[in-house]
Amino acid sequence: MEARYRAHFYPMRLALLAVGENFMPMAWWTPVSKEPFRFLLAMDRRNHTLSLLRELGEAALCFLPWEERAWVVRAGYLSGRRAQKAQKLGIPLRPARRLVRTQVPEKALAVYELRVVEWPTDGDHSLFLGDVLHAEGGAEAKRRPILFLGFRDFATLGETWRFRP
Ligand SMILES: Cc1cc2nc3c(=O)[nH]c(=O)nc-3n(C[C@H](O)[C@H](O)[C@H](O)COP(=O)(O)O)c2cc1C
Repeated sequence: MEARYRAHFYPMRLALLAVGENFMPMAWWTPVSKEPFRFLLAMDRRNHTLSLLRELGEAALCFLPWEERAWVVRAGYLSGRRAQKAQKLGIPLRPARRLVRTQVPEKALAVYELRVVEWPTDGDHSLFLGDVLHAEGGAEAKRRPILFLGFRDFATLGETWRFRP
């Protein structure tokens, strides 16, 4: 018998997944390989972004700074099925560099452009494995991350520490 879901593993770093002209905040993502460079994404089966991922086979995993958190999170309370989020939230987009159909927010500090394939699974989230076609960003991207604490709570970095072996 499996245990019921408990969210004691938060915080998770919040990304923004852009697919086509739509985007949504995503906490359930992780890198899974350096060579080849790959990410794994967990997508709720009710999201419009799921149909877009299946249709386009591409996505951009974007990282926005703490200062942009309000609209990033708001995008998770709207669906691209009913709203043009970029227009509604007033977010300027630019074309991705390698992806053909996807637009990314101009304010993203790091962007990973992915070609995705669905990974068969029977959970309540669909899994997508994404090969990185193009990566861009700098050290600035990790300075003030948006950390998701669960429910409606967020934080950014407080203390940092460098380990010296
Ligand atoms: C902080 C936060 C984190 C989220 N993380 C995920 C996630 O990892 N996977 C997912 O499928 N949905 C996640 N969501 C939910 C989607 O962002 C939300 O359902 C969104 O409205 C989907 O938009 P769409 O219908 O345009 O695809 C998250 C929402 C919030 C607010």
